[in-house]
Amino acid sequence: MPQYHQFDALVIGAGGAGLMAALYASKSVNTAVISKLYPTRSHTGTAQGGISAALGNLEEDHWEWHAYDTIKGGDFLCDQDAVDIMCREAIDAVIDLEHMGLPFDRTPDGKISQRRFGGHTNNITKKPVMRACHAADRTGHMILQTLYQNCIKNNVKFFDEFQVLDLLIEDGRCNGAVAVQLATGEIHVFHSKATLIATGGFGKMWKVTSNAHSLTGDLPATILRRGLPLEDMEFFQFHPTGVYKLGILLSEAARGEGAVFINGKGERFMARYMPTLKDLAPRDICSRYIYKEIREGRGIDGKDYVYLDFRPEVINRYFEEDGNPKRVDAHYLETRLPDIIEFARVYQGIDPIKEPVPIQPTAHYAMGGIPTNNDTEVLMDETGRIVEGLYAAGEVACVSVHGANRLGTNSLVDLVVFGKRGGLRMAEYARSASFRPINHDAAARKAQSELDALRNNDGTERPSAIRKALQQTMDDHVGVYRTGSGLEEAIDTIHELQERFKRVRVEDKSYRWNTDLMETWELGNLLALAEVTAFSALWRQESRGAHYREDYPERDDVNFLRHSMVWKNGKLEIRSKPVRITRIPPQERKY
Ligand code: FUM
Repeated sequence: MPQYHQFDALVIGAGGAGLMAALYASKSVNTAVISKLYPTRSHTGTAQGGISAALGNLEEDHWEWHAYDTIKGGDFLCDQDAVDIMCREAIDAVIDLEHMGLPFDRTPDGKISQRRFGGHTNNITKKPVMRACHAADRTGHMILQTLYQNCIKNNVKFFDEFQVLDLLIEDGRCNGAVAVQLATGEIHVFHSKATLIATGGFGKMWKVTSNAHSLTGDLPATILRRGLPLEDMEFFQFHPTGVYKLGILLSEAARGEGAVFINGKGERFMARYMPTLKDLAPRDICSRYIYKEIREGRGIDGKDYVYLDFRPEVINRYFEEDGNPKRVDAHYLETRLPDIIEFARVYQGIDPIKEPVPIQPTAHYAMGGIPTNNDTEVLMDETGRIVEGLYAAGEVACVSVHGANRLGTNSLVDLVVFGKRGGLRMAEYARSASFRPINHDAAARKAQSELDALRNNDGTERPSAIRKALQQTMDDHVGVYRTGSGLEEAIDTIHELQERFKRVRVEDKSYRWNTDLMETWELGNLLALAEVTAFSALWRQESRGAHYREDYPERDDVNFLRHSMVWKNGKLEIRSKPVRITRIPPQERKY
């Protein structure tokens, strides 16, 4: 027998956005969170360098400067009203986190400490500004712990290690979700008035990625299966500083503290390309120039990586050259960047205080996702019609505050601001709505039979082989540089892999902790999202932000200052909608 639960507000995902939504919803309605992981293992915990808010604690700053930088960083594809909300509300959100107990680093006079990050500027001087509030290089980890503790205090009910398999959507309204409990294999039906999706990204479709194994896009893939669209899926961010070959993140905070990129000729090459911001140019730009150096033979020893150099004497030499009076020493760096220094020591056997660190761009963040309005309500189409009772926030959503390229730290800003808005909105809705009747036995039977079909599939294809081939084709053709022919090749390969997936074999037929089955199910989701990503990238015949088409190297505002929206009803279908430009007309992007 399936188990049945009823909650006013149901949150799927226990990262920063989900916990913030649950915290605010639970102030007035009965709230539950379903998470495929134990909550404090969620991927928000790996966000390192900071959360930006124009507090102006160390130098002049304004939320309007933050908004301008975000819009310019996003290559003018951001919906500007949403950006204004995010940057304005970021200030209160950070103070709110501080009051909840988040242990931010402090300035000498006790204020929240702030550091530089890529693309964040003083809009007058155009120089980097200290806007990123931080707790060493564990800012996301601290946010996660703080929010989880506050949710527990607020009696939010947690269903840990449950995988959501389906959403109960009927006649344009969402009435909850169906999940499997990983420990038992039992199906649970969650009946809700309001349901918010906050399951984060889906970077595991690439081989070299900073994303955790759990980031497989299960809910965006469910959205597609339910006949709803995904937005701006062609825009996926490659963070410039992943551990070479492994992709593990080495925070941009290193460059915020003065680290530089060095090529095989010993040059600080970003100074050549971006004379004002240099190594603190936005991520799309840095990643492209790293590969340009490598392609032109200036990788380290001619190989496919460059160095991130944060030896104190190197940082101080470049500070002097840049006229920056600041100086650092080993103790300062060890205090400000303890985790990433440890990562380099553990994963690379390199001590960054004494040697430069080999890095390469790593698949990091989805700018696109489930389309929402500014109140986190999920959109059905390009006209703005909503799915009643369904919400999304954080990386999984496309609201769209990041446009074509997210600025570092804005992921954490997005998830606290829109997580809170989502929680308040769903509570408001749930207070006045009633439960719509559902057939929970039928919903459970459908989920169980789909899972059993996969469990008992009589095939020969190994999921691991399909996953490896998918990741290779995404690395090869849907990475930092793209071409029409490469994208077509990727789509053909993904279609072949989808055919092979029909013959996939799950070895473990059991019910308890069947990771073989769940990872296979997740692979199906990754294949669906990879197809949409490559398809949207082929449609967008221009270069903008993180989407760089070598065959269309210019931005084309006449034809493509638009958001893509893709549906899969049998075949993929693409439509588009205009970008909301409210204050800042598109301009050339110089740094
Ligand atoms: O580099 C970092 O610390 C990552 C931050 C982010 O993705 O916003």
